[in-house]
Amino acid sequence: MTLLRQTRVADLLGLNFPIIQGPFGGGLSSEPLVAAVAEAGGLGSFGAHHLRPEEITALVGRLKTATARPFAVNLWIPLGGEPAASVDQLAAQAALLAPYFEELGIDPPDPTVGAPIDFDAQLDALLAAAPPVISFVFGAPAADTVDRARRAGIRLVGTATTVDEAATLEEAGVDVIVASGSDAGGHRGAFLAPAEESLVGTFSLVPQVVAAVHTPVVAAGGIATPSQVRAAHELGAEGVQVGTAFLVSDESAASAVHKEAVTGPAGRSTVLTGAFTGRLARGLVNRVTREASGWDTQVPYPALGSMTSPFRRAAEERGRADLASFWAGQSAPLARLGPAAEIFASFAGAYD
Ligand SMILES: Cc1cc2nc3c(=O)[nH]c(=O)nc-3n(C[C@H](O)[C@H](O)[C@H](O)COP(=O)(O)O)c2cc1C
Repeated sequence: MTLLRQTRVADLLGLNFPIIQGPFGGGLSSEPLVAAVAEAGGLGSFGAHHLRPEEITALVGRLKTATARPFAVNLWIPLGGEPAASVDQLAAQAALLAPYFEELGIDPPDPTVGAPIDFDAQLDALLAAAPPVISFVFGAPAADTVDRARRAGIRLVGTATTVDEAATLEEAGVDVIVASGSDAGGHRGAFLAPAEESLVGTFSLVPQVVAAVHTPVVAAGGIATPSQVRAAHELGAEGVQVGTAFLVSDESAASAVHKEAVTGPAGRSTVLTGAFTGRLARGLVNRVTREASGWDTQVPYPALGSMTSPFRRAAEERGRADLASFWAGQSAPLARLGPAAEIFASFAGAYD
């Protein structure tokens, strides 16, 4: 079976193939990867939620130079309602994390909360820089954002982890909805109910979202082979968003140890954990994810992410898979190392 590639998603986003390379936040996206996927006829995406406004402006400028084809830049919409950690909780968390820092021989954890990111300033910079596509996770764009994007000719992509979230995104006026099943690697983007209550697998989520909205739907979560691309279309999706299989490409900014771990035997065992950032995310099972289930304190995002960041970075540099946060989806063992163009071509082969 071959698939028609000229779906509504391909038309709206200006693609030869309705294949989106999912954005990677926290520094794992790379400009060469975005450009390679864009040049191959898909939508390369750059996760920019950790960048300052002026960095976003410069990023979009460089990407426009790197490729004349469409690409997306992704931001995290503030969730709101997440409790701030108390001074006592932060101190207790620092004590729980201290052994990892000590083991790696780095300065002890700093219980001072990281500076919150100014989303409005990020968004203003991004809209002004006008990438061809902006994608969001953790929420629906405000009416004013949708208006500004339309006026600037920017297409908007929203991410849903439940049918209710998809309906909310449709109402907000996004052009394309990514239905992200709980198989997916990285953070769960739930925004209407707690992530723990929004864990629907891709196979179940996609047909339900397709039935509930008129907006074209892209399937995400656990897609790493051409047969899974075909299955996603069979379920009613008009495109796919692939994360883990591109995370292990030569061009991604993930470390060699991360890529080896994801595609090796460790890739068979992933878990949804809040241990590294305070928000639920899927990554490889290791000592930290196991030990965290016994913690009596787990401070919320973004405090935990800021506190764990130094030991995660040090663990990654030293190839310590037992302590690093190696994000990956449930199809990790199906991902293959190699150039992004080759990985893309294997997916593109599913289409006419
Ligand atoms: C390391 C990593 C970081 C991610 N960061 C983001 C992000 O910042 N924003 C976002 O919308 N999705 C993010 N995702 C989700 C991916 O874009 C994609 O939807 C997901 O990986 C698809 O599932 P798969 O990994 O099973 O292919 C991330 C995924 C991974 C593996």
